[in-house]
Amino acid sequence: MHDQPSTILWLHGFPLSSAIFDDQRAIPGVRHLMPDFLALSSMDDYARFALGVLDEHGVERAIFAGLSMGGYVCFAAARLARERIDGLILLDTREMADNADARLGRYESIEKVKRDGVGPVVESMLPKMLTDGAPAEMVARVRSIMMASSPEYVIGALEAMAERPDSSELLPSLDVPALVIAGAEDPITTPADAERMARLLPNARAVAIANAAHLANVEQAVTVNREIESYLNQR
Ligand code: MLT
Repeated sequence: MHDQPSTILWLHGFPLSSAIFDDQRAIPGVRHLMPDFLALSSMDDYARFALGVLDEHGVERAIFAGLSMGGYVCFAAARLARERIDGLILLDTREMADNADARLGRYESIEKVKRDGVGPVVESMLPKMLTDGAPAEMVARVRSIMMASSPEYVIGALEAMAERPDSSELLPSLDVPALVIAGAEDPITTPADAERMARLLPNARAVAIANAAHLANVEQAVTVNREIESYLNQR
């Protein structure tokens, strides 16, 4: 058993902000750092930004918690500064790079954002974020978080995701305690993705969250927080 870690660095997904982690602030006994990403266009730049947040707060090592794109940033940070990662919480993310079709789709979305703003991208992603059973207020809250994204951030993030490298070969070297969470109904990053990552990571456990899609941490916050608390207690 390790000492209880002091800091979790929460890295949000796309096209979202740190507001998506509001429910996770209730997790006790740790310090939460929840930055908002700037408009950057490479995963390494996002990782340097995240490491800079730790520097600003005088934190040497933290548990990196990455939701979807935030997970891609965790992998980039691990390539740049593996020694600063004290643990991993991977939420609805995957280690694989985009295939050619997905990459093309990102560049088509960039053109769409330049032409029509963020609205069409938000509306096409929203149905994948929460299950059909999610309450209307929750859907409205997620939509408003997504709609607050600036076109510059959305364009930069799309480019960064399109060009990110595959991290399959990195995972076996990340021997820190890891928790890999996926919404059982997530159509973007599936429980099969989570199980594969947990097999590649030397010290990981995968959990599928029932009645949740891509934003399991929002839709089933109580269950996700309980899983995270139990991860923290068992480290
Ligand atoms: C996210 O939630 O960050 C994105 O859906 C990730 C992606 O599009 O690959």
